[in-house]
Amino acid sequence: MTFHLRFWLNGQEVRTEVEPDETLLWVLRERLNMTGTKVGCEAGDCGACTVLLDGRPVTSCLLLAPKAHGRHVVTIEGLGSPAKLHPLQQAFITYGALQCGFCGPGMLLSAAALLTQNPHPTEREVREAIAGNLCRCTGYQKIVQAILAVSRGEVP
Ligand code: FES
Ligand code: FES
Repeated sequence: MTFHLRFWLNGQEVRTEVEPDETLLWVLRERLNMTGTKVGCEAGDCGACTVLLDGRPVTSCLLLAPKAHGRHVVTIEGLGSPAKLHPLQQAFITYGALQCGFCGPGMLLSAAALLTQNPHPTEREVREAIAGNLCRCTGYQKIVQAILAVSRGEVP
């Protein structure tokens, strides 16, 4: 039975029909063509599919799309734009915090949620906030440095 899904995606109201067992990740990428959200493990382990649901990071591979009904979802497409990068995006570039970039969308959204809730986190709090986002390339140090630089207002 089709579910009539209505939610806010990056500030815009979206209406689409979904099957009740479709994940938010699948709906974002396959029905709405928002491919910035990455597909990794599809088991809740890697964080590549992280989006913000009412401001909190969630793994969209585990969230059934109907659960987003009436709620606010932010994907990487809503964080900044090529013409106007979010400070975290700029900092990730400046600090070399992205290599292959596959973890980037989820990592950036987890970091953005942290700084919204806690504008001046400790290094430990930063590491805890991104603990669900796996990165195979950077060793995390540059990612942590970039997030802390933004928290100090040192937007490169
Ligand atoms: S793809 Fe969702 S946690 Fe890995
Ligand atoms: S930059 Fe490659 S997985 Fe993080």
